[in-house]
Amino acid sequence: MSATKTVLVTGGAGFIGANFLNLFVPRSPAIRFVNVDALTYAANLASLASIEDAKNYVFEHVDIGEESAVDEMFGRYEPDVVVHFAAESHVDRSIHGPRAFIRTNVQGTLNLLEAARGSRKAAELVFHHVSTDEVYGSLGETGLFTEETRYDPSSPYSASKAASDHLVRSWARTFGLRVKITNCSNNYGPLQFPEKLIPLTISNLMDRKPLPVYGRGANVRDWLYVDDHCEAIWRVIEKGRVGETYNVGGNNERRNLDVVKMICRVFADEAGASLAELEGLIQFVPDRPGHDQRYAIDGSKVRQECGWAPAETFETGLRKTVRWYLDNAEWVEGVRTGAYRDWLHANYGSRRQTKQ
Ligand code: NAD
Ligand code: TYD
Repeated sequence: MSATKTVLVTGGAGFIGANFLNLFVPRSPAIRFVNVDALTYAANLASLASIEDAKNYVFEHVDIGEESAVDEMFGRYEPDVVVHFAAESHVDRSIHGPRAFIRTNVQGTLNLLEAARGSRKAAELVFHHVSTDEVYGSLGETGLFTEETRYDPSSPYSASKAASDHLVRSWARTFGLRVKITNCSNNYGPLQFPEKLIPLTISNLMDRKPLPVYGRGANVRDWLYVDDHCEAIWRVIEKGRVGETYNVGGNNERRNLDVVKMICRVFADEAGASLAELEGLIQFVPDRPGHDQRYAIDGSKVRQECGWAPAETFETGLRKTVRWYLDNAEWVEGVRTGAYRDWLHANYGSRRQTKQ
């Protein structure tokens, strides 16, 4: 990206957005980054401490569900690029309360698309939509998601992301908006709110609390280190073709139970704890309704067209992640507000342990 551009990042105080800004704000001093975030439970401004005083960074406390506030942002900053991360992002929460997912992920995306279409730079602006492989639904034992796989979402979360992807494509076809979409597999790394599998497991290990594994722990996810995802997005912004979709994955399929056991091993190593004690915390709990069995990505398009490849292996990425949580116990404590505890209670309070 050349100098003097403005990149408007939505959801930059969340997990992936904050890692994205922490990487690219220092690396690209000639680009102005505007972080538009409503600061929901999943956000944490402390995640952005290292860039908050940077000359090329500004934070705007804005809810993308508010049409007039979004229009005002686009009028004031006239972005050249939009990187749209903002979302309600957790499947379990979408089962308990789907409305917020439709409001932010669908209505919020609509507001951004309309603001982009109406902006002074509408003809050149690139709208990069950050999405998930969950829009494709579930795979069986074999096969990979390609960019041509039919959409078949299972949860309110994935349905809302699928709807947003469709909106983005339709704004390209109908209004000529210059869009790009990336559909990525499960991310892990520093700064992830401890409700998703990997940070929940690590933070529970820190407190020696039970490690909930849904069903038999046999569901399979493809895991990608968050910085690798951020680098892929940057490559697609720079080199990807307008109007195209790129699937991004780690080529790193694991069964959930194996992931939890691997975290125990790395944690035991890093914290000098007993592996048997940590593995003894694993508890099988009732399964998630509509639980997708397996996700796996064919990432050849982004590799070939944009020259992207992940830098981390699961072993190196997981070690960095466990180390980060151990070194940042205050950050973990800080996000554990009353609201967070209420949520944990709502999700796990009714889940009794099942037999192994
Ligand atoms: P997150 O839940 O950690 O963060 C979401 C951020 O969006 C938070 O900062 C939150 O305050 C903000 N936000 C929520 N509602 C908002 C609103 N109405 N207005 C403005 N800001 C709002 O999410 P994440 O894991 O960082 O995911 C970021 C994006 O990447 C999402 O679009 C998600 O669908 C996608 N994605 C995530 C993963 C993953 O494994 N986490 C994988 C693939 C794609
Ligand atoms: P999660 O991190 O919620 O991501 P997603 O549902 O978007 O894939 O879950 C990853 C996998 O781990 C998923 O198969 C559900 C499972 N899981 C557990 O077994 N226990 C847990 O406590 C959580 C949060 C998830």
